[in-house]
Amino acid sequence: MQSAPLVHGHRGFRGQWPENTLTGFEKAAALGVDFVELDVVISSDNKVVVSHDPYMNMKFCLDSAGNGIADDQTFNLYKMRYEEIARFDCGTKVNADFPEQQAVAERKPLLSEVIESLQRSHPSVGFNIEIKSDEQGDNIYQPPPHRNAALVMDLLNQFNLKKELLIVQSFDPRILDCMHALDKHIPYSLLVEGEVNVAENLSTLSFMPDYFAPDFTLLTVDIASQIRARGLRLMPWTVNEQSDMDLMIEWGATDIITDYPDRLVEQLKKR
Ligand code: G3P
Ligand code: CA
Repeated sequence: MQSAPLVHGHRGFRGQWPENTLTGFEKAAALGVDFVELDVVISSDNKVVVSHDPYMNMKFCLDSAGNGIADDQTFNLYKMRYEEIARFDCGTKVNADFPEQQAVAERKPLLSEVIESLQRSHPSVGFNIEIKSDEQGDNIYQPPPHRNAALVMDLLNQFNLKKELLIVQSFDPRILDCMHALDKHIPYSLLVEGEVNVAENLSTLSFMPDYFAPDFTLLTVDIASQIRARGLRLMPWTVNEQSDMDLMIEWGATDIITDYPDRLVEQLKKR
């Protein structure tokens, strides 16, 4: 039988709590996840802000007056100071894609706040940090990779987290290369979407990452075994149905990212 995978709460605990918020991370940690998965972007004053989108998402953010947002393009976080970003509420308006979410007024937190908060309340929970970046967005939605990586690394260096409690992931190999050049000892994870060709995906990097993290719908038993045969940890995302969780475990996933860590924890108890 396969050993139990580690549980990563996607954007905290998105199935039940607003994504990428302090409340969501605390709830995931209290449930017993091994890692919280979170996304980071950079503000105009170089703060590392926890947000999946590099803008205020009209699906679940409200402006400082509590009004809805008409267009996702209106508020670009990379052009806003953190002080301004913090005036928006991205927790009261429930994301209709996750109707079981509980509403709670929440601003987008700084990465430093999330680490401080969880290190205090649940010091054994790890941080799986996705740096958002893509080539088309350079200088529009994010700084170029060298500066982006330097800002995140500066922040991480302030905490000196144990290696076991940190993973840095990205879809953008440029970011992983820059981070790796700055610190070779952090565990890195290559996110893959669109198509999996293990050798080709890995060839986009100048080093071998610790994790290979594909969209789980792209996996086959053969691809999963190729990844494991290379000695890489296999971290599929975003696995929300219990039948899919079982399949991923059977195929050798060492880590599973899910919006519903409660379901995965339950599933693991049955094994
Ligand atoms: O961690 C993997 C997963 O979070 C990647 O997709 O778009 O939810 O950041 P996304
Ligand atoms: Ca992510």
